[in-house]
Amino acid sequence: MKLISGSSNPDLAAAIADVLDVPLTSVEIERFRDQEIFVRINENVRGEDIFLIQPTSAPANDHLMELLILIDALVRASAERITAVVPYYGYARQDRKTGGRTPISAKLVANLISKAGADRVLTIDLHAGQIQGFFDIPTDNLFGQPVFVQDIKDNYSRKERDNLLFVSPDTGGVVRTRSIAKQFNADIAIVDKRRPKAGEAEVMNIIGEVEGRDCILYDDIIDSGGTLCNAANALMEHGAGSVTAYITHGVLSDPAVERITKSVIKEVVTTDTIAQPDKVKDCPKIREVSVAKLLGEAIRRIANDESVSKLFG
Ligand code: R5P
Repeated sequence: MKLISGSSNPDLAAAIADVLDVPLTSVEIERFRDQEIFVRINENVRGEDIFLIQPTSAPANDHLMELLILIDALVRASAERITAVVPYYGYARQDRKTGGRTPISAKLVANLISKAGADRVLTIDLHAGQIQGFFDIPTDNLFGQPVFVQDIKDNYSRKERDNLLFVSPDTGGVVRTRSIAKQFNADIAIVDKRRPKAGEAEVMNIIGEVEGRDCILYDDIIDSGGTLCNAANALMEHGAGSVTAYITHGVLSDPAVERITKSVIKEVVTTDTIAQPDKVKDCPKIREVSVAKLLGEAIRRIANDESVSKLFG
């Protein structure tokens, strides 16, 4: 097995390499003056089982293009099998036509990755599970949930856990929220969110009893923070005791950090699927837990042809 990192999240790649005790293969990633990307794999990869780690987070187009070019270089260098490890799959939210004459970009990106020459895809918490079907190559969609379950167990006493209420910030996340709530035998509530236009979230109603409960908002993505902060406000207005959030992918576009800082939310816990700038790292309300162990174990299992679903019980 060989591990290769693109430039999107070198810290996560290094942490995965540590977990697997496999060094990262040396690659050069450069730019021509006109910003075209050039890559060179500095080691022989002929006949190797390659795991190429590159979340397609912002700048999404650059990171995606770099992923495609790295795959092309690996194909032409006669790698035996290439797994695109894309912990955060950008463009996933464009997974259906939202109106006339609009694209399904999540499908286009899947086509690009397959056509470039990837043999498999490994990702975490796809925005919608059915995006797996956009690929005609095997796709393992890991759940970030066990990492969060462990963190909650580490940070809440048994008594505190009895007062937890898991909240889906929109109707699309209900299945995900029900699943984590089940781990704690806890109840769920649902925020009825509307988007008057892209990038704006509005809370319409809250379904469920939130009075006095310590609410955990659970979602796959925090982008501008609108969905989360609006949901948190509504929960507090309905008498919640406190609001914390667990969110897999910290996209955190502006003004998310400012919104979180000023919000009623106690803490936002995200994972390291996306590399964060100092502004996020320095925000006292944002904490990161690592998915390196989870990804490392999944990679080990794929390399050894072992079950990946067994990772989730
Ligand atoms: C939407 O369906 C997703 O699960 C997130 O709730 C959404 O992408 C978050 O976006 P924002 O933080 O900009 O409201």
